Amino acid sequence: MGGIAGSALAAAVSNAGALGIFAAHGTNPDGVRELLAQMRVATDRPFGANLLLAHDLVRPADSVLDQTSDLVNEALNPLRREVGLEPAHGAPASPARDVEEKLELLLEARIPILSIGLGNPGHELVERCRRQGTRVIAMVTTVEDAKAVESAGVDAIVAQGAEAGGHRSHFAKPAQSGAGLVGTIALVPEIVDSVRVPVIAAGGIVDGRGLVAALALGAQAVMLGTRFVATTESLGVQAYKQALVEGASHETVVTDAASGRYARVLRNRFTDHYAATGAPTLPFGWQGSAVAPLFDQARALEDPDHMALWAGQSTGAIHDIPSVAEVVRRIMEEAERVVGSLVSRPASG
Ligand SMILES: Cc1cc2nc3c(=O)[nH]c(=O)nc-3n(C[C@H](O)[C@H](O)[C@H](O)COP(=O)(O)O)c2cc1C
Repeated sequence: MGGIAGSALAAAVSNAGALGIFAAHGTNPDGVRELLAQMRVATDRPFGANLLLAHDLVRPADSVLDQTSDLVNEALNPLRREVGLEPAHGAPASPARDVEEKLELLLEARIPILSIGLGNPGHELVERCRRQGTRVIAMVTTVEDAKAVESAGVDAIVAQGAEAGGHRSHFAKPAQSGAGLVGTIALVPEIVDSVRVPVIAAGGIVDGRGLVAALALGAQAVMLGTRFVATTESLGVQAYKQALVEGASHETVVTDAASGRYARVLRNRFTDHYAATGAPTLPFGWQGSAVAPLFDQARALEDPDHMALWAGQSTGAIHDIPSVAEVVRRIMEEAERVVGSLVSRPASG
């Protein structure tokens, strides 16, 4: 989780007995070096690193970039003014193209787990990882993509249901925001039945009930995002964490305004205004560059209305901001209680 899962959060998850994954997205190669060093100090348990592999970082033609940037700036400038920024003109700065360099660092470090979102790592990368003793997990939203990453040789597949917060892990951007939104309860068993590698359920899971439900669907494990944003160790600003505590499940939207790729976030002034303008978005990376100063300013001001509040529908089940250890303890205790109550329930009929 870029900007959220630093070493404090990831190490706390691993130290609590789960598998912490730090975000290599949203930082540069030096940041990755630092995170690796911090992880080695903060935990002696297995951990992972996550990278987004979107393949649309190719620079669009200048004319397309200029024309779209004009419309994006027209949409963003009122919001920029609202937080005290000057209006911007022209194309934003090119996004960094350092995924390969960061991958090299992670491979050299022989991290236990490489987690991939937004793309198929492919056979060659999986083999490179295997030679370093690194296992690969890839996140998908369809059976077709699950089969593709299984063919590439991944060790486990994350089935990401539509409830999930953050980016939809599509390999290619769908034509509309509503496309490909399959809920966790439908997607997990469909993928479990279609592949032989272990499946990890993601999307809408926040407590012990969700963990047991995912296991009942055939998942071997669960991946939680939104729940961990609202913890003391996450890098999210307080206003963001508080928005998750206050948010209800029906208050999220899937938008491409925050990055150029579809992602689930809490509705706020930013999402409502951008949608109302009808403006297009720049490609992944470029849109992120265009919105970055606005989001940075909003974070500095603790202003939840002018940033992307990445959040899944499980926001409705988040009522506090505990430590990571407390979250994991509660989930495990509740899961045991739920399993116990299911086993002791008298069979009917
Ligand atoms: C704040 C936030 C940031 C995220 N960033 C990433 C990321 O950098 N890479 C990635 O593969 N997935 C990312 N995700 C998606 C998660 O991997 C996961 O699919 C999702 O959080 C699971 O659903 P949940 O939020 O309902 O728990 C992010 C999710 C959130 C909430």
